Amino acid sequence: MRKNIVAANWKMNKNHPEAIELIQSILFSQIPKKTSTFHQVIIATPYLYLREAVLLSQDFPHLYIAAQNCHHQSMGAYTGEIAAQQLESIGVTHVIIGHSERRAYFNEIDEVLLQKIKQALQHHLIPLFCCGEPLEIREANTHLEYIQTQLANTVFQLNPKDFSNIIIAYEPIWAIGTGQTATVAQAQEVHAFIRKLITDKFGTDIAENTSILYGGSCNAQNASSLFAQKDIDGGLIGGASLIAKDFETIVLSNTTQ
Ligand code: PGA
Repeated sequence: MRKNIVAANWKMNKNHPEAIELIQSILFSQIPKKTSTFHQVIIATPYLYLREAVLLSQDFPHLYIAAQNCHHQSMGAYTGEIAAQQLESIGVTHVIIGHSERRAYFNEIDEVLLQKIKQALQHHLIPLFCCGEPLEIREANTHLEYIQTQLANTVFQLNPKDFSNIIIAYEPIWAIGTGQTATVAQAQEVHAFIRKLITDKFGTDIAENTSILYGGSCNAQNASSLFAQKDIDGGLIGGASLIAKDFETIVLSNTTQ
């Protein structure tokens, strides 16, 4: 049985007191009561707050703390960077890799993303791998081919055992932070397509057990209709994850699926 997952991506938001307040609001909400092995919550805070977030949430077994990135080398003279093994050593369990903002603003190409995935796996971090097309590709109706290439160059290079540890997030770039969510049909189409690609590459068992999350202006109003789709196993939430009440509503709509 595959897991339903709601992941928060705080991006570069919240100062320290605000971050602690948000974590505490989540911990004191209905969220921990609703999580389970098959209904997980992941919170990707800025690096600065990771250790504190890990300590605060350590009594909540299905609530995980993630980094938003890691470096593609194992350790060394890379000023200002953070290695997967450093994240592992402070109790972080997941890492977002390949977010479109990292691809666009930090020139992260597929080759580097594959190295990051391998670093993460080597250090027992679960990669939450993002894919998704820009607006011009969607308008040209070549989004499926585009996503197929993104996956072929990265996670499909892994062996089946490693791939089974990956969570995929489909995030159409035109929907991120724009308030313009993909329609339920648009999202389901791509999710079903991704699952079919996984089936062709790794077989039905692995495909049926891979969680594929939707991201891009997912919010308290639209989450339940997106999560009700057969191939949508939760969401990667940016803006709406910064408001405790909205994030709680989103998580609760996933736990009823
Ligand atoms: P958004 O961001 O929910 O603010 O659109 C999603 C993401 O970038 O992961």
